[in-house]
Amino acid sequence: MPVETSSIAQRLLVHYDRHARRLPWRASPGANATDPYRVWLSEVMLQQTTVAAVIPYFLRFTERWPTVADLAAAEDAELMTAWAGLGYYARARNLLACARAVVRDWNGAFPDREADIRTLPGVGAYTAAAVAAIAFGQRAVVVDANVERVVSRLFAIATPLPASRPEIRAFAETITPDARAGDFAQAMMDLGATICTSRNPACGICPLREDCAAFRTADPAAFPVKAAKKAKPERIGHVWWITHNGKLWLERRPARGLLGGMRGLPGSDWSVAPNAAMPFAAQWATLPAPVGHVFTHFALSLAVHMAEVDSDCMTENDGEWWPLDRIGEAGLPTLFVKVADAVLKKDEAYAG
Ligand code: ADE
Repeated sequence: MPVETSSIAQRLLVHYDRHARRLPWRASPGANATDPYRVWLSEVMLQQTTVAAVIPYFLRFTERWPTVADLAAAEDAELMTAWAGLGYYARARNLLACARAVVRDWNGAFPDREADIRTLPGVGAYTAAAVAAIAFGQRAVVVDANVERVVSRLFAIATPLPASRPEIRAFAETITPDARAGDFAQAMMDLGATICTSRNPACGICPLREDCAAFRTADPAAFPVKAAKKAKPERIGHVWWITHNGKLWLERRPARGLLGGMRGLPGSDWSVAPNAAMPFAAQWATLPAPVGHVFTHFALSLAVHMAEVDSDCMTENDGEWWPLDRIGEAGLPTLFVKVADAVLKKDEAYAG
């Protein structure tokens, strides 16, 4: 059968032959045999954390348990201890279950068909494809987060993640070569990790620049497109800016709740339709525009009402008069700093 390799794959493999990262679980580029045990072990570990963090674990594991049969014979507790620090212990339990299944059901030799590898405990679609391609040279479409990013850019996929996954997979399928599928998968991973990075991709040195639809746009890093953030619910509230002879009335907020325990301006609840009654009779003036602030879970719009009062007006409330010329030292949260800026700017405008 003729070897069919897309020009993208060809260019990428030429680059990989020169620049592949040397990693302890990897054969040299182009080499046929890679121990499936080492490939599988590294892929499971790499789902957890970065290449740099995995290397010492991988070296320790393979020294202690050089074959899948050695690992299958390990005590559960021994393996859990060796895994400590890699996180997500279900993976470690699955690791042992998988090693034992290979020994029990496959005579100690990993199956070489993607579909069979997929039946092993803890082995998902990604790991099955990676092991089939990297260890057995089978044509399998390997898509991890790095590959998702590279493919999204190569084809300037406009659909946001995660909805774009089927599209990404279909495009990845079109560029996966029949030969050297394992090297191709790892070359895509290396490209994503070192050149086609999330922020500031190094397009200037990318071997696929000429093939890349995102490169032809003004902002390649805008791919993969992210889903628009859900609009936050809106709340409104009222605050009272009460002054007396150059001092501002501040109150300590309740210990519990948003901005708990911080100094703030007195005001209404923040809700859909807060009660707008002023706290007492005075010559109130309201800022022409409310002050906006976005919290993690909602957007707040605060109407700011101002009054100059006699000092005894506030004696029944729990708070303090704070000199306006030292407002920067009150430790106000950003929301109230914005209110102060809005009021003081307006005063400046009047003074000017
Ligand atoms: N990340 C996951 N698998 C990898 C591999 N085989 N090489 C480099 N990075 C990876």
